[in-house]
Amino acid sequence: MSQFRSSFAAFLCLSFAFCSFQSLAKTVSATSPDGSLKVEVNDQGNSAHYRVMKGNEEVVANSQLGLVFAKLPEFVDGFKIKTHKTSNANSVWQQPWGERKQVVDHHNELLVTFSFQGEKSAVNRSKHEFSVRFRVFNDGIGFRYELPKLGDVDQVTIVDEQTEFRLNPESTSWWIPARGWNRYEFIYKKTPIKELDRVETPFTARLPSGTHISIHEAALVDYAAFSLDQRRDGVLKTDLYPWYDGTKVHAKLPMKSSWRTIQIGNKAVDLVNSSLILNLNEPNQLGDVSWVKPGKYIGIWWAMHLAEKTWGSGEKHGATTDETKRYIDFAARYGFDGVLVEGWNIGWDGDWFFNGDLFSFTQNYPDFDIKELAKYAKSKGVKLIGHHETSGAVTNYRNQMQDALDLYQKLGVEQIKTGYVADGGRIKRVDDKGIVRHEWHHGQFMVNEYLYNIKEAAKRKISINTHEPIKDTGLRRTYPNWISREGARGQEFNAWGSPPNPPEHTVVLTYTRMLSGPMDFTPGIFDVAPKGLYEWNRVNTTVAKQLALYVVLYSPIQMAADLPRNYSKDLAAFQFIQDVPTDWEESIALDGEVGEYVVFARKERDGSDWYVGAITDVQGRKIELNTDFLDEGATYEAQIYQDGKDAHWKHNPYPVDVKRIKVNKNDKMMLHLAAGGGTAIRFKKL
Ligand code: NOJ
Ligand code: CA
Repeated sequence: MSQFRSSFAAFLCLSFAFCSFQSLAKTVSATSPDGSLKVEVNDQGNSAHYRVMKGNEEVVANSQLGLVFAKLPEFVDGFKIKTHKTSNANSVWQQPWGERKQVVDHHNELLVTFSFQGEKSAVNRSKHEFSVRFRVFNDGIGFRYELPKLGDVDQVTIVDEQTEFRLNPESTSWWIPARGWNRYEFIYKKTPIKELDRVETPFTARLPSGTHISIHEAALVDYAAFSLDQRRDGVLKTDLYPWYDGTKVHAKLPMKSSWRTIQIGNKAVDLVNSSLILNLNEPNQLGDVSWVKPGKYIGIWWAMHLAEKTWGSGEKHGATTDETKRYIDFAARYGFDGVLVEGWNIGWDGDWFFNGDLFSFTQNYPDFDIKELAKYAKSKGVKLIGHHETSGAVTNYRNQMQDALDLYQKLGVEQIKTGYVADGGRIKRVDDKGIVRHEWHHGQFMVNEYLYNIKEAAKRKISINTHEPIKDTGLRRTYPNWISREGARGQEFNAWGSPPNPPEHTVVLTYTRMLSGPMDFTPGIFDVAPKGLYEWNRVNTTVAKQLALYVVLYSPIQMAADLPRNYSKDLAAFQFIQDVPTDWEESIALDGEVGEYVVFARKERDGSDWYVGAITDVQGRKIELNTDFLDEGATYEAQIYQDGKDAHWKHNPYPVDVKRIKVNKNDKMMLHLAAGGGTAIRFKKL
């Protein structure tokens, strides 16, 4: 109704210069520090709205704000701007680990308080007010709801959020569906916005002007994640994930929502270079986190996905003492920090996907001597990486979590990969009355459950790599032991997915999923077609592209995912995986287009080498690389790993040429990427 009123008022205003209704509306605004972006906030139609401008371009047209409650009247109609306050901030903070060390947080803030000034009702509404805090950066905006105590009311149940993002419906967008059974693990689609239905975030779009935007959220704590639901063409509305009973958020007052974010750039790579989401998170709450260690790992993992081994017990059991020792030896020989072992604990026999309640997190299978292996790993200077698959039975995990974490701590395990394999909406919890409830991975209950695990792990100096996670919203800033997560289709789909990831998958991920934070994609498959070139399940890239992914898909922990025997066959190419760091001083996305290609340059943390990763979709490409990011006055040996002669993702994925040339910052290099290929370069400072 309010939408109709405000558009009707605007219509009167334009058509008849009759603006009495409109003129009653108040507008306040804030611009970005460089003046390029502007947020206008108004109470058109007695209702909270905002609009985002980039110069003269309307990026987000006047869009509704508001909250709907279970037991209170809606905070939508009848609200007018009561006060507004502006402020600004300009600081630099450091990441303990990350894609860059220094992060600049430069923004202007506008805090707008709306109070109820509508018609009298039976309910006393004199104390009904809410604020929206906007932060305007040079690379986009963020805003969140803030609710004070409302008179006597000190808790609320939110049943809907009315936040809209009104976008040009003809914009090109890249998206995965929301509320699907496979959570975030879908193949991205590219369509005009008007053709989508309900989508997950980060949601990336290119407006007809060429401006790129991405909608997501930051600092998601004790609130429900949202997806975007298209109403009228181009009108995307936040759709909060519900609890089992349909309510969305239960909150004590005062409360604040997570930040709604809109990253905005002229070019696709501007989105990738933005630190807006991290900037909207709270600083590190864990104090000294020198125990959180980036690094590289191998694991008893791909063999199970290829069905050479099993998680469960029996002849093909993967996690045996002997097999784990072989992996530890390989890790020690080639400089890996850790060995992940999946399937070591009781509970995998039968259909583990549906048997989460059977998992023990402390009892090992008899052929896996966990104490002996912890000792063996230590003697070789390698860490065992723990694994907790819950299959979504989170109460079973919660009941054992303290013991499970204590056990790993005692054994010197510093990192655990967790897993929440369960269909969307099928997380199983048992409430305090003993009743089974099914929840979404992205609802408020699980938002809190994932974070509980992170905090409990932090108490024991353990870092967590969450699979089937809640989407990343930058909480690694506040909890740096949340070291990585999955949250999209990873490499595993290439072993058994129907279909496997298409060649363009990773050049879409770069501009979508990766905007939210690190991903444990697990690159580095050398035997890209173990069942034959034309089989359904294979890796749809060249081997050189697998190398480039270590630079492109940022994660402070990177797996060398293939079987050791496949690396032993190609030690020349394997050298790049051994050399590439996982912690960076600086990262720059130099060039690219969503779903087509990307070129990254990253400088190693506490070192002097630079690395470049370039990857492409099905198009082969020549890309000119300007090396002006290199240090002034220095000479480098460029160790280039590129697609060999006639390489092609489908017909000829294996050839990798390794060559070395001398370069400095004034040089230009021509990169030759095969169809579905890539180039990886180490610039070793001489
Ligand atoms: C799904 C995870 O993404 C994968 O890496 C893991 O191997 C399986 N679950 C088993 O936990
Ligand atoms: Ca997964």
